[in-house]
Amino acid sequence: MSRVVLAGAGEDLILRVKQATEGDVHVLPPGRLPGDPARLFEQLVDGELPDVLLVGPHAPAAEVLTLAARLDVQSPGIAVVLMADPSPEMWQAAMRAGIRDLLAPDADVAEIQAAVERAGQAAAGRRRVLRPVTETERYAGRVITIASPKGGVGKTTVSTNLAIGLTAHAPQSTVLVDLDVQFGDVASALGLLPEYTLPDAVHGPASEDTMVLKTFLTQHPSGLYAVCGSESPAAGDTVTGEDVSRLLASLAREFRYVVVDTAPGLSEQTLAALDRASDVVMLTSMDVPGVRGLRKEMDVLRELCMIPAGRHVVMNFADPKGGLSVRDVETAIGTGVDVVLPRSKAVPGSTNQGVPIISSHRRDPMAKELHRLVARFAATPLMKAGKYRARHRAAG
Ligand SMILES: Nc1ncnc2c1ncn2[C@@H]1O[C@H](COP(=O)(O)OP(=O)(O)O)[C@@H](O)[C@H]1O
Ligand SMILES: [Mg+2]
Repeated sequence: MSRVVLAGAGEDLILRVKQATEGDVHVLPPGRLPGDPARLFEQLVDGELPDVLLVGPHAPAAEVLTLAARLDVQSPGIAVVLMADPSPEMWQAAMRAGIRDLLAPDADVAEIQAAVERAGQAAAGRRRVLRPVTETERYAGRVITIASPKGGVGKTTVSTNLAIGLTAHAPQSTVLVDLDVQFGDVASALGLLPEYTLPDAVHGPASEDTMVLKTFLTQHPSGLYAVCGSESPAAGDTVTGEDVSRLLASLAREFRYVVVDTAPGLSEQTLAALDRASDVVMLTSMDVPGVRGLRKEMDVLRELCMIPAGRHVVMNFADPKGGLSVRDVETAIGTGVDVVLPRSKAVPGSTNQGVPIISSHRRDPMAKELHRLVARFAATPLMKAGKYRARHRAAG
């Protein structure tokens, strides 16, 4: 039996649908139909997605068409049946919005039953095509965590630019997660106005179904998806390490690249992100306190066996007159430096305007070096963190 959700129905229609489905229907309270699938899913008590969304004649046609068109893209496993006068114009608009069937508002129980059954079968068929593989067989995307012991060294700058750069290689398959849970500013750096933020993505219906989770993401015009930081530090604090771990695992099944911006230091959330990471970008400013901090952080992570397979050391704010050479830094941290990002006058402006420098100032020396960082991920194949760690532990 299909799971049916009914919206926009009066008393009389509710009765007919209950008969047609033998009472197995979830009736949404009267009122506006949400134009956004995520809002619709919020109204479902158990968070389980329906097979069929049946919409009665009380819902305004324009709202139904908007919702149906979005569902068709975001949750194609749900079939929408609309009860409206089946005029040729209505049929055409319905077809364009991906509505499965039109039914006259006065359809009887048998007609409703037949339409719901057909729609349920169609939905099941589409889901089979869409989800041909089991959980374990699904794609394991690369999780790249940007970390640094200190604030203000360019984590958000690097993560937003890296994410935009990777989106060019994997459009619609790159997501950026703002794990600076208290003071995240990814949304501002990308000029985004998120409707949902990190706490929404880890609590409630989004945490139980990856298809639902996708509707809680914010889209950037470039094709990048983002989980933006919470609006208040208190809300951010409700996000645990376990939440982070679950979120990143789900995203890695759906996206080729998951880029994670973090808060300074090794918070519970950052440690969870490092544990899930295939790669870490260890970032620091190119000065003595910055390099010392990086050295300490690397020591701690090494002791915890938490340095992922892909480790990329990046210096920011490089200044030829700063008195520190790359060689000095490499000696101090005991390992090679992979990318050196120069200080650039264009960066603060791009941060303030919400347009990453990699897309606004392609010729800027900082943008060029950022491309070098992007290429490290776009050009090398994925290596599973788990496998590496097993070897790493065996060797140690
Ligand atoms: N290479 C750079 N040149 C000039 N300014 C930079 C550079 N990298 C970052 N900034 C600026 O430094 C400030 C802090 O950077 P941000 O990315 O927010 O750091 P974090 O996320 O580590 O706290 C921002 O105003 C940013 O514009
Ligand atoms: Mg930041």
